[in-house]
Amino acid sequence: MPRRNKITIVGAGNVGATAAHWAVQQELGDVVLVDIKEGLPQGKALDLAESGPVMGFDSNLVGANDYDATAGSDVVVITAGVPRRKDPKTGQFTSRDELVDINRKIVGSVTKEIAERSPNSVLICVSNPLDAMCHVMLAESGFPRERVIGMAGVLDTARYKTFIAMELGVSVEDIHGMVLGGHGDTMVPLPSHTSVAGIPLRELMAEDKIQSIIERTRKGGGEIVGLLGYSGYYAPSASVIAMVEAIVRDKKRVLPAACLCKGEYGYDDLFLGVPAVIGSGGVEKILEMELGAKEKEMLEVSANAVRDVVKLLPY
Ligand code: NAI
Ligand code: 2OP
Repeated sequence: MPRRNKITIVGAGNVGATAAHWAVQQELGDVVLVDIKEGLPQGKALDLAESGPVMGFDSNLVGANDYDATAGSDVVVITAGVPRRKDPKTGQFTSRDELVDINRKIVGSVTKEIAERSPNSVLICVSNPLDAMCHVMLAESGFPRERVIGMAGVLDTARYKTFIAMELGVSVEDIHGMVLGGHGDTMVPLPSHTSVAGIPLRELMAEDKIQSIIERTRKGGGEIVGLLGYSGYYAPSASVIAMVEAIVRDKKRVLPAACLCKGEYGYDDLFLGVPAVIGSGGVEKILEMELGAKEKEMLEVSANAVRDVVKLLPY
């Protein structure tokens, strides 16, 4: 009998538990949910498993507060950490960068536990600040760069496509495009590489509208935090699962993902959102595309913003 894929998700909170939901619904493999909160991963795993007979999926689910059940995982998604929240007193949101100190310790310790038990896995980082946490995972796992990937570009691109489809009144399925750079307010949506079923976006939408969609995309995470008081999780978890699916089904999907650049786009030893071919080996190739002068300038601003956070790390 062929072996089932094993997917571990660390952090059984909003993003982690919802990712587990999408994963079993698509029968991508068996899922192990890990969290430090006692009862939480066990409860979420059991509740989700009990939906199997109704929804008709056959994945096994396990919840745990330690890492033994994660051994031999094919893919590990790390969502453990503290999310952005709105302070009820001041109304101020936690910035992604303020999270660096707390989350680097959490992500670092989780990564060590995982690397010990699943030395051949592909790691997907979700915890914020995303690009910097990818550096933590790379350093603490000792894995090659191909097997440490950050999820942000799929989400940022999904938001960008959603806003374009809403504005034009067309299906999201027909919007093609990409958002590159770091996961922050300096991310780089690429309107010159965006089309609606092959029709260049600029033939269908006025420049001021495009610019307002770019701005809305850049602040997309904050828009949800402003509405909910905590960060979004449906679109983030769906985005993670697109990457997990590409890996476990070896789809060779071209997805924008945070990858460690080694010369690509002129960047060295820096995680940055770039178009990547994602398959069973993780990042199988980084695709280099032609960027205009303005786009290169924006990517440089975004790379500098990532570097500013990476500088805070003790590596
Ligand atoms: P959440 O608070 O709902 O879940 C986080 C979970 O991590 C909690 O259940 C907590 O108990 C657990 N946790 C904390 N320390 C742990 C440890 N040492 N070991 C195991 N589990 C631990 O937060 P949510 O909304 O699920 O977000 C998770 C992270 O993902 C945050 O850092 C958030 O900012 C980030 N995020 C990133 C996105 C991206 O595009 N890269 C999108 C959305 C969220
Ligand atoms: C987001 O973009 C908070 O990074 C998270 O929704």
